[in-house]
Amino acid sequence: MKIDILTLFPEAFSSLGTSIIGRACEGGILDINLVNIRDFSNDKHKKCDDTPFGGGAGMLMTVQPIYDAILSVLSQEEKSALLSDKAKKTNVSTKIIFPSPIGKVLNAKKAESLSKYKHLIFVCGHYEGVDERLFQLFPIEQISIGDYVLTGGELPTMVIIDCLARFVYGVISADSLTNESFSNGLLEYPQYTKPRVFNGIQVPDILLSGNHQEVEKWRIEQSLARTKKIRKDLLNKK
Ligand code: ADE
Repeated sequence: MKIDILTLFPEAFSSLGTSIIGRACEGGILDINLVNIRDFSNDKHKKCDDTPFGGGAGMLMTVQPIYDAILSVLSQEEKSALLSDKAKKTNVSTKIIFPSPIGKVLNAKKAESLSKYKHLIFVCGHYEGVDERLFQLFPIEQISIGDYVLTGGELPTMVIIDCLARFVYGVISADSLTNESFSNGLLEYPQYTKPRVFNGIQVPDILLSGNHQEVEKWRIEQSLARTKKIRKDLLNKK
């Protein structure tokens, strides 16, 4: 999967090169590229923001540098597919995402559907927002990572990439995906590793019993109890 990240702050993404995502990049499963929006500004001072028409607080990102930055990462085929009137109906394998608190909130199901695209383009907003014409020029999906406001789209972009990458084949083991929180609509059960006793706290006997059926039953009970206690809303969705 190819991922282009368009940002005014490429240095914010240094942590993407580490751990599981870093390994997926080294292994060629993910191809993540950082594009500095400022490089595309036609302004002689490389300015990428301006005051909002009609007044209001703060600065908005101007549309021209982002427009050209997006065009620079699209192939001719992608341009015709995405920019045609039929883009919404056809099965386009490229998606442009703008993390924003006004989007639908990300969940595991959404992340899994994003993992099926061949090419994702993230546009990171900053300041008070972006000129609305960006959304008239391209089919862009706005995605929120929660009902709160962050200072920019860089952290949400990393959250969304980390979350969807886990569903890309080969990034983590299939087993890890089936036994985690939300995979069955419940929170994950508690887990333990060596030593058997630490600071006087024992690992539950059932996990040492070797009885796989009983272990499985215990895990389901624990998942249910935990979900009921912490996230009752998830049970109502089932
Ligand atoms: N940008 C600022 N706040 C955000 C949020 N909650 N989700 C996604 N993008 C954002």
